Amino acid sequence: MSSRSPSIVSRVFYKNIAKEFAHFLSERKYSGYYILADDQTVNYCLPVLFNEVDMLKSATVIEIFSGEVFKNITTTQQVWEQLTEHHADRNALLINLGGGMVCDLGGFAASTYKRGIDFIHVPTTVLSQVDAAYGGKQGIDFNHYKNQLGIFRNPEAVFVNVEFLRTLPAIQVTNGFAEVVKHGLLAGGRFWKQVHAINDLSSVNWNKLVRDSSGIKLSVVEKDPLEKGLRKILNFGHTIGHAIESDLLNRTGDALHGYCIAAGMIGELYLSNQLCGFPDKRMSQVIEFICHHFPAIDVDPSFDKEILNLMKQDKKNRNGRVQFALLKKIGMPVIGIEADEVMIRKALDYIRTVYKQNG
Ligand SMILES: NC(=O)c1ccc[n+]([C@@H]2O[C@H](COP(=O)([O-])OP(=O)(O)OC[C@H]3O[C@@H](n4cnc5c(N)ncnc54)[C@H](O)[C@@H]3O)[C@@H](O)[C@H]2O)c1
Ligand SMILES: [Zn+2]
Repeated sequence: MSSRSPSIVSRVFYKNIAKEFAHFLSERKYSGYYILADDQTVNYCLPVLFNEVDMLKSATVIEIFSGEVFKNITTTQQVWEQLTEHHADRNALLINLGGGMVCDLGGFAASTYKRGIDFIHVPTTVLSQVDAAYGGKQGIDFNHYKNQLGIFRNPEAVFVNVEFLRTLPAIQVTNGFAEVVKHGLLAGGRFWKQVHAINDLSSVNWNKLVRDSSGIKLSVVEKDPLEKGLRKILNFGHTIGHAIESDLLNRTGDALHGYCIAAGMIGELYLSNQLCGFPDKRMSQVIEFICHHFPAIDVDPSFDKEILNLMKQDKKNRNGRVQFALLKKIGMPVIGIEADEVMIRKALDYIRTVYKQNG
C-alpha cells in the first residue's frame, strides 16, 4: 500500500478518461501495475483500456473465470498467488477491469494482500458503472451466502467509461438497469421521471444515466460510508432479492443479480404497501414498469423455507429479526422495518401472483 491512508470516498472520473488515467498513474509512483480481468473483459475491454492508457501496456494481466459462481475464495486465492508469483509488493496497484464480480473480488483480494495494496475500479457493466464500483464494499460469496466475506475499503479512483458498454450483451444491460430503477425509486423527483420514461434500453443515453444514477449512490455513501444508518436505504429490494439470488445460485448455479433484485423490489413494494402505506395506485404503476423491463424468474414456493433461512443471514438483521429498507412513497425510503415470517411469505406469494398476471 502507498503511504497515504485509504480515502473515505474515491475519486470518480467520467470525462477525459485517457488523460485523467495517465495523469493519475504518473502522479502516484507505483512499483507495478496488475490488471484483473475475467475471461470476457480480457477480450472485450482490455484492448480498449490499452488503447486509452499506453502506460498500462506493461501491466501484468491476471485472468479469472467470469460469473458469480467464481466470486469465491478459490478465485481470490488464485489472485493472491498471481500477485505473489509476479512479485507484487506493497506499492503495487491492482486495476479491476470488469463488472461487479471482478470489482468486488479484486477489491477484496487487494485489500487483504500484504495488509492492503492500492486498487482502482474500471467498471465495464451497467451494474458496476451505476452501483457496484462505488461505496467501498469489497467481498466474495462464501458457503452459499452472498458477500459473506468482505471489507469496507475504497478504491483510489474509479474510471467510468460508457464505451465499454458497447460490447455488453443486452441481458446484462437489463440486469444493471435494476439498480437504476432502485435509485429512481429511492430518489424520486426528476430522476424517477427520467427512469420511468425509459421504454427501450437500446436507445438510452448511458452517459447521462450512468452519471445521474451513480450520483445518487455516491451522495448516500458519502454521508454514511460504513452503513450505520442512511446507507441502508440502498438495500431496498435486496433483502428478498439477495435471498432469491443465493437460493437460485445454490440450486442452479446461475442467477442474474439485477433480475433477482427486480423480483425483490416487487416483494418489497408489497411490504412497503402493507407496512408503510405505499399507495396502491403507485404500486401498480411501478410493478407494471418493472414487469415491462424484467422477465419473471423462478421463485418456486417449495423453496420459500430456504429463502426465509437465507434472509435470516442477512447482514442488516438485528437480534435474528429480518429488517427491511422500504418505501413510504417514491422518493421517501424508510429503514429498520421488521416483517415477520407470515408477512414475508405473503410477499413471496405476491411476486408469483404478479409474474402469473404478467404472463
Ligand atoms: N460492491 C457493491 O456495492 C455491489 C453493488 C451491487 C452489486 N454488486 C455485485 O456485483 C456483481 C454483479 O455485477 P455485474 O452485473 O456487473 O456482473 P459480472 O461482473 O458478473 O458481469 C456480467 C457478465 O458480463 C461480462 N462483461 C463484463 N463487462 C463486459 C463488457 N464490457 N462486454 C462484454 N461482456 C462483459 C462479464 O464477463 C460477465 O460474464 C454481483 O456479485 C453483486 O453482488 C456489488
Ligand atoms: Zn444490487
